Amino acid sequence: MGNKSIKISAPGSVSNVGPGFDIMGFALDSPVDEVVLRLNSKGKVVITKITGDGGKIPYDVKKNTATVALISMMKKLNAGFGVDVEVRKKIGLGSGLGSSAASAVASVYGLNELLDQPFTKDELIEFAMDGEAVASGSYHADNVAPCLYGGFIIIKSYNPLDIIRIKAPSDLWCAVVHPQFEIKTSEARKILPKEISLKKAISQWGNVAGLVAGLTTSNYKLIGRSIKDEIIEPVRAKLIKGYDQIKNSAMENGALGCSISGSGPSIFALCDSQITAVKVARSMRTAVTKTGHHSKIYVSQVNEVGPRII
Ligand code: HSE
Repeated sequence: MGNKSIKISAPGSVSNVGPGFDIMGFALDSPVDEVVLRLNSKGKVVITKITGDGGKIPYDVKKNTATVALISMMKKLNAGFGVDVEVRKKIGLGSGLGSSAASAVASVYGLNELLDQPFTKDELIEFAMDGEAVASGSYHADNVAPCLYGGFIIIKSYNPLDIIRIKAPSDLWCAVVHPQFEIKTSEARKILPKEISLKKAISQWGNVAGLVAGLTTSNYKLIGRSIKDEIIEPVRAKLIKGYDQIKNSAMENGALGCSISGSGPSIFALCDSQITAVKVARSMRTAVTKTGHHSKIYVSQVNEVGPRII
């Protein structure tokens, strides 16, 4: 086995994208997580080092999203070797930017490359979802899929898994503000309604369809008026202090549409140029500062690449 090693970066992502709870997401150019893998002959997966997490991520390989994904993959391979894993967290934990998904994807993508690609991406995604599930308490692919495939993703079905990748308009930019506090996805899922009215479902279907049509025809106005979520956003907005003011600041500064990224607290806004996205990101940061929180901002196009060997 030697000491073969690889270093991978995997991108953060915005999931839900307004109306598409659990079925839509896109990858960002930044932030990214990094994972270093080194094959070992101990026959075990071992986490050797974790940085950037403030000591919060478990070293227990059965609880860490990166290693749960890796172990799931190695079981399928009947692997007789082990892997030393170093996780470098750069995507905030509990940020709503697909932090756990990125570590899981980086691990399985990296091992697949080290072993000369025994699996396709369509197979790797299942392992990455096992990793994501241990962190978030549920099987959802709207962060792992964009992170692994890159681009803008629609999950048409979970059973069987049916993932569609669409090309986002080339001038679409995303502004993200990440207020510096954590929301656990598992907690943010517990507060959601178990049932919804037909009236709300119809409105949500309309917005999902409008968003897809807008993206595929580069109709920015349609994209903007389809970033509407009548079901999840009103419930989760209560977890984010000053949410309405932050969203208003994005819209007043030219955003096409704005909503919660994943389970929050990050908030994303789609824009039709880089200049507007920078302005919108800064305005959202100012609005977050008024709530008493520090924040980080990111401005990115849709990342069409996904994980990279670095
Ligand atoms: N779709 C998931 C949710 C994403 O909103 O709970 C979590 O990152």
